Amino acid sequence: MKASISSTSHYAPEKTLTNQDLEKIIDTTDEWIKTRTGIEKRHIIGENEATSDMATNIALDLLKKSKLDAKQIELIIVCTVTPDHFAPSTAALVQNNIGASKAWGYDLSAACTGFLYGLETGAKFIESGKYNNAMIIGLDSMSTIMDYQDRNVCVLFGDGGGGAILEKSNRYGIIDSLLRMDGSGGKFLIVPGGGSRMPTTSKTIENREHFLKQDGKTIFKFAVKGMADVSEEILRKNNLSGDDIDLFIPHQANKRIIDAAAKRCGISQDKVVININEYGNTTAGTIPIAINESVISGRLCKGDILLLAAFGAGFTWGSMIIRWGN
Ligand code: ACO
Repeated sequence: MKASISSTSHYAPEKTLTNQDLEKIIDTTDEWIKTRTGIEKRHIIGENEATSDMATNIALDLLKKSKLDAKQIELIIVCTVTPDHFAPSTAALVQNNIGASKAWGYDLSAACTGFLYGLETGAKFIESGKYNNAMIIGLDSMSTIMDYQDRNVCVLFGDGGGGAILEKSNRYGIIDSLLRMDGSGGKFLIVPGGGSRMPTTSKTIENREHFLKQDGKTIFKFAVKGMADVSEEILRKNNLSGDDIDLFIPHQANKRIIDAAAKRCGISQDKVVININEYGNTTAGTIPIAINESVISGRLCKGDILLLAAFGAGFTWGSMIIRWGN
């Protein structure tokens, strides 16, 4: 028995922040951002919107598309590094908002690899035989931890995400996964302040330590190698080549990272989903957004072999092969 994705959804806030908008607030150009990253714009949450509001939108749409009603949902996992609060969990807020009165759940923090960690975790609950379904939502409100004075970081990220319902299947679903973590990379992509290591004070705010900091060059190097290595390894392990893959959905951090991974795996450009131009890096949101867009556009069809790959803060990274059954 496998865990298979039975419905998908995504959500991006209406408001956008284009490269031209950024040109007005920091020393950058549309040309620099486009050629170095592939990003043209990002979606940004509204003033009264938070991660749980986006997640609730996604959850309600998932229910609409599935045969399940809210009371039948058994498990909710929200993958995010930008929860509404430290406590309660965003999953608990979503559970209440959609009326999933029989569900339990939790938040999962694995940054850009969050949705892969979430799918893996949800799948194991279903494969155990004890659970019939799990709702996995991956999303982030990166604008809430962005320093819009730091051009090295703020051009890269946006808000949004998506989700999936996992259910039992005999024919379709997750074929294999490889998940990795190396905490020695933690310092290269970090929000230093606001946690138990450096609780929020007026000083941490003055020093802008509640914003995401990164060493872009180091991350770039690790991401290119990590995402390509783990994608190549999962193909080899399953006796597949790039030609056997119908669609490759990589995490959307930088178009150059995506191109390098696809090239190493021998996957032709026409099989690679790229939407970074529209959303930027939405952290745990990139993969579920791209999955749902591929379903809507007809690029992802029943029986297809789908390869997912991600790399992010932690460091965390991983890959997954799915026989698509939706
Ligand atoms: N606009 C204009 N110039 C800029 C900007 C900007 N927004 N940001 C940096 N620059 C400047 C730099 O200051 C530097 O100037 P200098 O040579 O005078 O010092 C110059 O541009 C070149 O900078 P580099 O760092 O060499 O540029 P690079 O080609 O490495 O691209 C980037 C930088 C886009 C950040 C790249 O390193 C990257 O994508 N790294 C990965 C970061 C990432 O994806 N983080 C997200 C989370 S992890 C993940 O999801 C994989």
